[in-house]
Amino acid sequence: VSARIQAPRGTFDVLPDQAALRAALEERARAVLEGAGYARVETPAFEATELFARGVGESTDIVSKEMYSFDDGGGRSVTLRPEGTAPVCRAYLEHGMHKLPQPVKLWYLSSFHRRERAQAGRYRQFWQIGAEAIGSEDPAIDAELIVLLVGLLDDVGSKGLRLRLSSLGTPAARAGYRDELQAYLRANADRLSEDVRSRIDLNPLRAYDSDHAGTREVMEGAPRLLDRLADDDLDHFAEVRALLDAAGVAYDVDPTLVRGLDYYTRTVFEFDSSALGAQSGVGGGGRYDGLIEELGGPPTPGMGWAAGVERILLSGAQDSLPPAPGVVELYLALDAGARRQDAFATLVDARRAGLHAQMEQGGRSLKGQLKHADRVGARQVAIFGEGGILLKDLETGDQETVEVDAVVPRALRARSPRL
Ligand code: HAM
Repeated sequence: VSARIQAPRGTFDVLPDQAALRAALEERARAVLEGAGYARVETPAFEATELFARGVGESTDIVSKEMYSFDDGGGRSVTLRPEGTAPVCRAYLEHGMHKLPQPVKLWYLSSFHRRERAQAGRYRQFWQIGAEAIGSEDPAIDAELIVLLVGLLDDVGSKGLRLRLSSLGTPAARAGYRDELQAYLRANADRLSEDVRSRIDLNPLRAYDSDHAGTREVMEGAPRLLDRLADDDLDHFAEVRALLDAAGVAYDVDPTLVRGLDYYTRTVFEFDSSALGAQSGVGGGGRYDGLIEELGGPPTPGMGWAAGVERILLSGAQDSLPPAPGVVELYLALDAGARRQDAFATLVDARRAGLHAQMEQGGRSLKGQLKHADRVGARQVAIFGEGGILLKDLETGDQETVEVDAVVPRALRARSPRL
């Protein structure tokens, strides 16, 4: 016997029950986002590696360790997209969307790839629902996007949510702060974890993410970026908070909030759910006012978020979204001596007329077929036999012998009022 091949580590199959839940979630996302003027976009599954190196940042875990990059056969390095913001900004530039009325509001539901250590809620291929608003630095954009994600998560039944909010200011404020933090970390290097110590030069902000006890102690006394922001950044942040307050959205200001991507400026936020385990981040995002310029475009502000589809489902939406009804209105059963062609032609006619119809295809006995029709919840069963067609209504118990042309009109008349 040949060895069986399994799905790669960190990936999963979406089986029909899950597919139905995902479809329901997608529908809710579409309703919430398109209702707010966000239009759907889809970008390629892979992009030039350079896009992420420049956009997301060389020093991030995503770019330095987690990308699936390969030579496309023509000597160019391409990468399975690890996130959606850089690709959407690339598309904005490539299609001259800066000529459209601003801001341009876009949303997506796509799969992404990161070579992470697989565990519950953390996969190597996962899906995100994302929204981006490009071309405005109005704090009302920041607040609107956050409120939309709150609305979506509430709507689908995510539980135990907490919103953390902060501001990273401008790259200039951050550079000054970075120097200050590096000096502080160096002065306390002996109490830091090996990992944090080795990254003081490359990515000192990561120290806030550490679980290491000594590092956490050091970080409690560390200088805070929020205390170092320029006045207009502080004003912007205050306005975002005032708008969230006006919308009745609860949040915690968390000056230690760091995000794993380099493009953020000003507002950053993250939703955690207590219903999740170690991987508690349901969604997050922020402002990226320098990203489009970094990608070769004119200075253009932007703001957005992405939420993991699997994390949303794990955070409780799984139990709240309605399962898709697998309705069968008409079941075509075959008795001995039946003309299969008649039954098949009737099946096709029934479907053309909009009926949810199924025909026996499993080689079952007539008794087995009737049991099966019952199991799938069929309303009407048409039994094709040597002598003619018997149409049975399984709800009322009525039955009559009919001509082949009458099956579809009768079934339509008895149509389940549910549909
Ligand atoms: P991110 O925080 O890297 O942000 O990912 C957003 C969400 O995607 C996470 O909160 C999580 O729910 C989900 N996610 C990330 N990695 C995994 C994984 N390995 N397995 C399962 N779910 C995962 C971004 O990607 C930014 N592009 C968000 C953004 C949009 N910022 C501005 N605009």
